[in-house]
Amino acid sequence: MNALAQKFEFEYSTALPEIDFNKPAISVVGLGYVGAVSTACLSQLGHRVVGVDIDAIKVQQIEEGTSPIHEKDLAEYLSDGVENNLISATTDLVGAVIDTSVTFLSVGTPTSKDGGCDYRYIISAAQAIGEGLRQKNSYHVIVMRCSIPPGATLDVMVPEIEKASGLKMGEDFGICFNPEFLREGTAIEDFYAPPKTVIGANDERAAKIVADIYNPVDDKIIMTTIEVAEMVKYVDNVWHATKVSFANEIGRICKPLEIDSHKVMDIFVQDTKLNLSPYYLKPGFAFGGSCLPKEVRAVAHLADRLDVRTPLIRSLAATNMLQVETATEMVRNSGHKRIGFLGLAFKAGTDDLRESPILEVINSLVQEDYQVSAYDPAIRPNTRIENQFTYVENVCPHLKPTVNALPDMMRQYGHEVIEQSDIIVVTQNTPEIQKLVASAFGRVEVIDLVRVFKEQPMFQGYHGIGW
Ligand SMILES: NC(=O)c1ccc[n+]([C@@H]2O[C@H](COP(=O)([O-])OP(=O)(O)OC[C@H]3O[C@@H](n4cnc5c(N)ncnc54)[C@H](O)[C@@H]3O)[C@@H](O)[C@H]2O)c1
Repeated sequence: MNALAQKFEFEYSTALPEIDFNKPAISVVGLGYVGAVSTACLSQLGHRVVGVDIDAIKVQQIEEGTSPIHEKDLAEYLSDGVENNLISATTDLVGAVIDTSVTFLSVGTPTSKDGGCDYRYIISAAQAIGEGLRQKNSYHVIVMRCSIPPGATLDVMVPEIEKASGLKMGEDFGICFNPEFLREGTAIEDFYAPPKTVIGANDERAAKIVADIYNPVDDKIIMTTIEVAEMVKYVDNVWHATKVSFANEIGRICKPLEIDSHKVMDIFVQDTKLNLSPYYLKPGFAFGGSCLPKEVRAVAHLADRLDVRTPLIRSLAATNMLQVETATEMVRNSGHKRIGFLGLAFKAGTDDLRESPILEVINSLVQEDYQVSAYDPAIRPNTRIENQFTYVENVCPHLKPTVNALPDMMRQYGHEVIEQSDIIVVTQNTPEIQKLVASAFGRVEVIDLVRVFKEQPMFQGYHGIGW
């Protein structure tokens, strides 16, 4: 076993890998950074792999067992595969589809002129795949590996394949979307120890064939729909870019303050409860409360004082306000005039109303003559609301009239709010509020800002803010 294989507990014997005839032969279309690595690594798992590219030089390099790109350990894996007749390469995509039963598609998806996705390579490959399918009479699975906008697998690729083949997806051939998460430079290492394996599918037969291919390297495969899998890939990369840019803005602020940004972030990353964790990462309502808005303003102000540009941090207040506007617009679009709010504070379990974003929504509606009632289990008739607003008087003086009118809007019980409304806006997620919302279905419409139930209710008057 070589050192790498040993590290990832993958059987890489000193003897050359052998074809496992129980495993499907795979064609890999596009022998770039993704395809060359897939070709090498799938062959190491015992698959016979046919690499396909329109670039005859890349094809020749793979045929000769040399690597078309610089990538650690790739040349060794490719030459092993070729030596043992596991890897071959061709420019004939139609022939490769006829010769295999699974096709991995990893052609380029560059940025188009308008900033979107250039589908030209996908379309031309899909047409050739369709032509190959037309000439064979056994079931075939196409595995889309390109990073593409959600919907593109089914709306762009599949129609081309169906048109060229005269066959039907789900019956004659299967489609899966399997995003690629490798990092260039450690691509082979990542293949054997993936951060995750995601298979988006709309047909069990295809999903099982692809899952069986990945089982040797990942026994916790995540199955989902094709569209979710497509979106996951985009979200991952946008998140990584956000992390890099956030860290760089922190560095730009720290440097003129002569604070070592690496010391700051070394501590930051040790918090795996709130900082590097699933916390705060589910779409919902705007952030608020006595800390987040204040501190975001303070850091943006600090950067200005230092003459440091931090567009990411500076954009947070604006994107937060957009979420408030989205919620307000959802109420307006409902056409109803009697609006009930379940939850007033920025989160459940506190009577702290300072910079609660739902107050901004209520404020707009009150000015537009909507009738508002509200219930918050933590706010009682004796809660001293006005006091909290002296604290934020520089930030939201515009809320004063609404805050003064709050005692009249408040109801002692949640069911009173439901009875007096045509639509309710849910801003907190607690067992009590879940019960209230469940009792409201069918009686009033619901605008859900917090995803009160894990599964989206099928109830017709239910509207989620980001789902
Ligand atoms: N490079 C990465 O690290 C990485 C990681 C994850 C996902 N991706 C995604 O995977 C896809 C491929 O990326 P890449 O970096 O390997 O691209 P690449 O440009 O390195 O390789 C694409 C290959 O496809 C070939 N090709 C184009 N049309 C073809 C056709 N009709 N038939 C056969 N071959 C054809 C090209 O000649 C080229 O060799 C892209 O969608 C990319 O966004 C890339």
